[in-house]
Amino acid sequence: MPRKAAPSASQAARKAATTEPVVRFETVGMRYGRAPEVLKDVRFTLSPGSFHFLTGPSGAGKSSLLKLIYLAAQPSRGRVELFGHDVQAVPRQDQPFLRRRIGVVFQEFRLLDHLTAFDNVALPLRVAGQKPAAYREDVRELLSWVGLGQKLNAMPPALSGGEKQRLAIARAVVNRPELLIADEPTGNVDHEMALRILKLFIELNRLGTTVLIASHDRELVEASGMPVLKLNEGKLTRQRGADAA
Ligand SMILES: Nc1ncnc2c1ncn2[C@@H]1O[C@H](COP(=O)(O)OP(=O)(O)OP(=O)(O)O)[C@@H](O)[C@H]1O
Ligand SMILES: [Mg+2]
Repeated sequence: MPRKAAPSASQAARKAATTEPVVRFETVGMRYGRAPEVLKDVRFTLSPGSFHFLTGPSGAGKSSLLKLIYLAAQPSRGRVELFGHDVQAVPRQDQPFLRRRIGVVFQEFRLLDHLTAFDNVALPLRVAGQKPAAYREDVRELLSWVGLGQKLNAMPPALSGGEKQRLAIARAVVNRPELLIADEPTGNVDHEMALRILKLFIELNRLGTTVLIASHDRELVEASGMPVLKLNEGKLTRQRGADAA
């Protein structure tokens, strides 16, 4: 993991001050419109600095569960807490502040096609008010680390699926989020690159980021040895080594 990684004093202080779970679900139900619930009585916690995989068959509700965490959806019952805040009690105008503490790798990437690879990754830093001179080298280094050092000026439509995925990962981790959520982040890369991405996530986690990764990749999940939350038809059925709710 590139240098950018050193935690700032304020981040360290904030971390030391918070022992509450980063995420807590209490008997959460979720449905789309009037359709049947896609999440049922889901309860779990993510402690600060923890690393979990989220597994389960296609349609089990993994992406839906992640949406609740990054505030793209609301539970239809139960309670979701993020950094100690009940998400349903957070006023809409304050949600972006919580959201900025989370890095998200979307299943469908969501890159900005009119920006170069470099600018896609730099965007979260620009939005946070940093100057190009302060982040240029870090962004280059991170892009090299994910194997895109020769593609700094490429536009996303000109990248392969795996390259887009790596770009989306670089963008999600560039500002050292407190919580990293990744939805199938290795679905488009070969096994060697998947292991490299896993290493990046583990390194980020060692530096203090709480990590939750939805993945179908059994080999990767096993290789990591990390705790597993398992969803089946909207219910959490197995929690290997995971925190009790
Ligand atoms: N926007 C939506 N509107 C209505 N139903 C949805 C929507 N998104 C997902 N669903 C439904 O919710 C259920 C869970 O979907 P979800 O995408 O969370 O599953 P998943 O575990 O992420 O699957 P995959 O492994 O294929 O990505 C599915 O039955 C799906 O059809
Ligand atoms: Mg999904």
